[in-house]
Amino acid sequence: MERERTDLSDWEMWDEQYVWHPYTQMKGAKHLSVESAKGSQIKLKDGREIIDAVSSWWVNPHGHSHPYIAEKIHEQAQNLAHVIFAGFRHEPAARLAKTLADWLPGSLNRVFFSDNGSTAVEAALKMCIQAHYNEGKPKKTIVAFEGAYHGDTLGAISTSAQDTFFTAFKEYTFEIQRIPLPNAGNFKDCFEKFHSVLKDGDVAAFIYEPLVQGAAGMEIYSPFHLEQLIQLAKQWGAYCIADEVMTGFGRTGKTFASEYMETSPDVICLSKCLTGGALPMAITVGSDEIYEKFFSDEKQKMFFHGHSFTGNPIGCAASIASLELLKKQDCQDAIQRINRQHKAFSDRIKSHPKVTRLRMMGTILAFDWKIDEKTNYYAEIRDELYEFFLSKGVLLRPLGNIVYILPPYCISKEELEEVYSAIESALEKF
Ligand SMILES: Cc1ncc(COP(=O)(O)O)c(C=O)c1O
Repeated sequence: MERERTDLSDWEMWDEQYVWHPYTQMKGAKHLSVESAKGSQIKLKDGREIIDAVSSWWVNPHGHSHPYIAEKIHEQAQNLAHVIFAGFRHEPAARLAKTLADWLPGSLNRVFFSDNGSTAVEAALKMCIQAHYNEGKPKKTIVAFEGAYHGDTLGAISTSAQDTFFTAFKEYTFEIQRIPLPNAGNFKDCFEKFHSVLKDGDVAAFIYEPLVQGAAGMEIYSPFHLEQLIQLAKQWGAYCIADEVMTGFGRTGKTFASEYMETSPDVICLSKCLTGGALPMAITVGSDEIYEKFFSDEKQKMFFHGHSFTGNPIGCAASIASLELLKKQDCQDAIQRINRQHKAFSDRIKSHPKVTRLRMMGTILAFDWKIDEKTNYYAEIRDELYEFFLSKGVLLRPLGNIVYILPPYCISKEELEEVYSAIESALEKF
């Protein structure tokens, strides 16, 4: 099909004709053409530079095209790009597994590889279900929070709230028991509801995003409440799955949000920032106790899961490099500095009439833009704000009328100021 538009290059035409973009109503969709990206800046084909204040869907801790990560990817690609991971092993995967196991809380010691956040969740759910099954005590129920988001594959969708994104698939999901996200006002009810579900003895797992529900709208809740829910679940023999796909690797101020609680989860899901934003990879780490349920003379007790690119060596090399960068003092200082800047910015906007429910944790800052209707994902103001921020050279993707900042840790003080100033201009304009 020939197009009349002549201002587009060949590849832009190909994009328009052949590519289907994610979470996008393709009718009328506009896509910015990216030339390159370095640090916090995305450079467009037309020469504009955009500050990536959402870490490209939350995946980028150290900035785009980080030279150290690029170097390690290059080295690894020349030596071993990929090899089957069943029946074979290699140093990058083993080294990454050891690094993570040393760093993770509790007895989270068995590292299982997959490709993205949703598959990390699928593997976690299956791990817990099969662990009970292997023990000869199959359990069926999964418990999740209201409003949760754990990914786009069918198991992950089942555990996620279905009203916003997933109504078309409701019939195809499995049943979930839901408890409200705890707060000071509802905690007693939340705890009692959880207790009554657990008492049936059929709960295989409780899955949660520790302390911040990301896609649900950056909803922050207390470690004190989560600690009690985790303890209760364990008391009744349910495994606890911490979905740290978004909260992992420093996002909440500690390396893992699970470190804010005393009791460790049985399974943790990691992805997003794992490879430093360079490559798709995910990890599901199981505790020693879970692993033991699979370790057997019986073949049928093996974990029945595995993807073609499991343990991809280049992804592992990128992850090891990214973790080395994360451990460095200057990265840890940057995380704290962003948090201090967010606090000072909060003071600047907290009394603005359009700002409600201002909240913050680690490097995340969010608030609800006051609208006449209830906060929702389809709020009209969303598209206006998105375009306005871009016109100011800043990438922010409000979740409906919820505006949030989730920057790469390498963002400079000045770049972050530019992000704040775009928000302040919007507050004045709309
Ligand atoms: C908490 C959480 N879990 C799982 C996922 C799914 O990750 P992916 O998009 O890599 O499949 C996401 C994605 O935003 C997430 O935020």
